[in-house]
Amino acid sequence: EHKKIIIAIDGYSSTGKSTMAKKLARQVGYRYIDSGAMYRAVALYALRHGMADTGGSVDEARLTAALPGIAIDFKVTPDGQRTMLNGEDVENEIRSMTVSQAVSPVAAVAAVRHAMTDLQQQMGREKGIVMDGRDIGTTVFPDAEMKVFVTASAETRARRRFDELKAKNMNAGYDEVLANLRERDHIDETRAESPLRKAADAFMLDNSDMTLDEQDALLLRIFNERTR
Ligand code: CDP
Ligand code: CDP
Repeated sequence: EHKKIIIAIDGYSSTGKSTMAKKLARQVGYRYIDSGAMYRAVALYALRHGMADTGGSVDEARLTAALPGIAIDFKVTPDGQRTMLNGEDVENEIRSMTVSQAVSPVAAVAAVRHAMTDLQQQMGREKGIVMDGRDIGTTVFPDAEMKVFVTASAETRARRRFDELKAKNMNAGYDEVLANLRERDHIDETRAESPLRKAADAFMLDNSDMTLDEQDALLLRIFNERTR
């Protein structure tokens, strides 16, 4: 019986964090938690209530006051995990370009980060989780036993996201996707509260030229080392 650990996978947008985190969780029998989905759900709430827009403005005071009324959790279904916002399945809607354009300014609001961090720490109380995001290894679980920080070139990432959206019939132009990734990366890296950065003890993974199989094998190797 291996000891249960916390696995933190952070990095830039569309590097494949959720793809690798989900796969690894399945392989080792851990729970997968998509922290980005939680910020996306808050952004959707803010958009619907006129507290944020796609131009990047956020009514911080109103959003902060509304936080106690925003319940976010995950429901496990036969076709995977679904993100729930106040009991409503918003899994598809939170992946839209509209939400992508509003999410980073919303996620920069300190009270939003504190609320999500608390929730994420509760979800990881018993360990045995793989969580992906931007600040999991630095702020949410600074003591995580396994940390990976994922990067790839902006063009590679935009191509991956563009293909993904196209496969789901959610149209967006390549240039629009690339511009959005750059914009979010910039906001995520420069915000005051838990900015996107590599934890000193995180394994740096540039997967620009890596296949999914190579990536999975590498992660399993690191996992086996950390749980030995
Ligand atoms: O999948 P993608 O890279 O497009 O983004 P995501 O993981 O769904 O996260 C969406 C946004 O939420 C990011 O651009 C960040 O602004 C924010 N986020 C965050 O601030 N902290 C996290 N731990 C996860 C996401
Ligand atoms: O979660 P994050 O935004 O970092 O990325 P994702 O939603 O997992 O999307 C990454 C996309 O790139 C997926 O369609 C993967 O199949 C693809 N991909 C990858 O994840 N890793 C590679 N080494 C190559 C491609």
